[in-house]
Amino acid sequence: MKLGVCYYPEHWPENWWAEDAAAMARLGIVRVRIGEFAWSRIEPEPGRFDWGWLDRAIDVLHAHGREIVLGTPTATPPKWLIDQHPDILAVDARGRERRFGSRRHYSFSSPTYGRETQRIVTAMAQRYGEHPGIVAWQTDNEYGCHDTVEDYGPNAARAFRAWLKAKYETPERLNAAWGNVFWSMEVRAFDEVDPPNLTVTEANPAHRLDFQRFSSDQVAAYNRLHTEILRVFSPGREIVHNFMGFFTAFDHHAVAADLDAATWDSYPLGFLEQGWWSDALKNRFARQGHPDLAAFHHDLYRGVGRGRWQVMEQQPGPVNWAPHNPAPLDGMVRLWTWEAFAHGAEVVSYFRWRQAPFAQEQMHAGLHRPDRSEDRAALEARQVGEDIKRIGAQPTACADVALVFDYQSEWVTQIQPQGRGFSAFRAAFEWYETLRCFGLDVDIVGPDADLSGYGLIALPCAPIISDALAAQLRNSGGLIVAGPRTASKTADFQIPPLLPPGDLADLFGVKVERVESLRPGLKEHTDHGAVERWLEHGTGPARAVVKTASGCGVHYAHGRAHYIAGWPDAALRQHVLGAICLAAGLKVLALPDGLRLRRLGPFQFAFNYAPEAVNLPDYIPGSDKFAFALGRAHLPAAGVAAWRV
Ligand code: GAL
Repeated sequence: MKLGVCYYPEHWPENWWAEDAAAMARLGIVRVRIGEFAWSRIEPEPGRFDWGWLDRAIDVLHAHGREIVLGTPTATPPKWLIDQHPDILAVDARGRERRFGSRRHYSFSSPTYGRETQRIVTAMAQRYGEHPGIVAWQTDNEYGCHDTVEDYGPNAARAFRAWLKAKYETPERLNAAWGNVFWSMEVRAFDEVDPPNLTVTEANPAHRLDFQRFSSDQVAAYNRLHTEILRVFSPGREIVHNFMGFFTAFDHHAVAADLDAATWDSYPLGFLEQGWWSDALKNRFARQGHPDLAAFHHDLYRGVGRGRWQVMEQQPGPVNWAPHNPAPLDGMVRLWTWEAFAHGAEVVSYFRWRQAPFAQEQMHAGLHRPDRSEDRAALEARQVGEDIKRIGAQPTACADVALVFDYQSEWVTQIQPQGRGFSAFRAAFEWYETLRCFGLDVDIVGPDADLSGYGLIALPCAPIISDALAAQLRNSGGLIVAGPRTASKTADFQIPPLLPPGDLADLFGVKVERVESLRPGLKEHTDHGAVERWLEHGTGPARAVVKTASGCGVHYAHGRAHYIAGWPDAALRQHVLGAICLAAGLKVLALPDGLRLRRLGPFQFAFNYAPEAVNLPDYIPGSDKFAFALGRAHLPAAGVAAWRV
């Protein structure tokens, strides 16, 4: 459990650096990430490197005993490079060039940018790879931020055609897989295929899914350009990337396969503002964030990082980029930090050391104000540094439930929602929320994860199921619960020959004959809550445990397999998942609104996201019997408690 910070020495006078490093040490900040946007200072002109300032910055931090995470600066190619090679720029879905003047203005498919990336990464790795102060590298910065995974320009078109050729070998196979006979979309050569934008009405969903798979592969290949060089010149250093929240445009498991750990950037208030929740919920949690938002991503990225993960950027105060940017409640920065540690984070690193008085993010808070005085978050970081001594390093507890989330599921539902607002990611989030309200610990895992050993496996929405995953589901000893649209498509984005859930019909005992989406306000009621948004009509040997008033099965049980044939509202989700958890032998609590739990080693943690105080209920294990390492049974708003169980 280490604290870290994101620092930009190039933004501050050099005679501040030593004092900044000393202040970091006093505050308990161990890790310092630098460099990820500094290309124009590292190489001010083509081929002329100015290493002096970066040498000194690294040396100062190292002399003060800080561990440095060095970023490759490829998220911000400098102006001279773009002028030399305009083919680096990407093109958006409407055919417009995405220009210089902010960041991420490059195409993952540009061969020129691939070469330039190798050149700058090699230069940095050769210079600093074995510096004793460098403990880790961050590749680039937030792949895909500002909607930059997909490129629709000539670089991407060329690379997409080559990708399709490698996948299908002949145009006939592509035509068959995509069903191109429909609307005379058949092609005679791979060169006749374009990216799926600017079509008159929607492009073929199979075409779009392959384009998303291709775009995702381009991100992984681009990241690999970095890791291959860094592994050679910087032996023994970790390589990470900082992923984002609520972001699904590429397969994070594929990118992380080349990394040592996953890291992500946690901005709970900004994400709440941008999310789908009601105004009432947003108002209640405006200064805390949705109670499951950070935890969901912690559990997601623990899976992405194969058990190893960190928070690379932690929100310290108001941000600048959401529709509204409130300040966290006093105590929230500490709570967010502890919640990350409780979910197994190795490092929590604050963004940023000091608020910048200039440019795009001048309204974004840091640990310090632009006048160098400490801002609120610095006090809370210092408090965490003290707290850590009372908990010590602990192994992450094994979770009760495996929740399977496949990035491809979200691509399928984005491409073909079939009802506005249908999102596999949202389904995963809502099921997770319900499980957490029961006080359960959840592992969010990818479709290739080992599912053995879990008492309950949940698939909130997985339209495409690989043979390997199907085999794991058949062979697992645990209970399985799958949600709507599970196994409803083949890998080619077609309806399975035997109707959904295809080959899994025998496992679930259900065959889905018809689906319908429901407009907002149109609900199908059951005795325990309603179905909204989506309803399936099934038949088969499974027992319909819950039905709508009109007799349509919603929860089917068949041996140890359960199928939920619709989008349950919160009450119905709680009823059905609660019953299934009990059947799986799990302890199901009814936590007060805003209270969440998490086990870490021998400790049970509790976090109060509610804007009012809450008393820990007696039914929480151990809370009345043991001495608290942190907090106590009366938890104020933004309070944290931890006790041994
Ligand atoms: C992140 C990004 C940082 C900074 C931050 C502001 O998305 O990685 O560079 O922009 O947001 O909240």
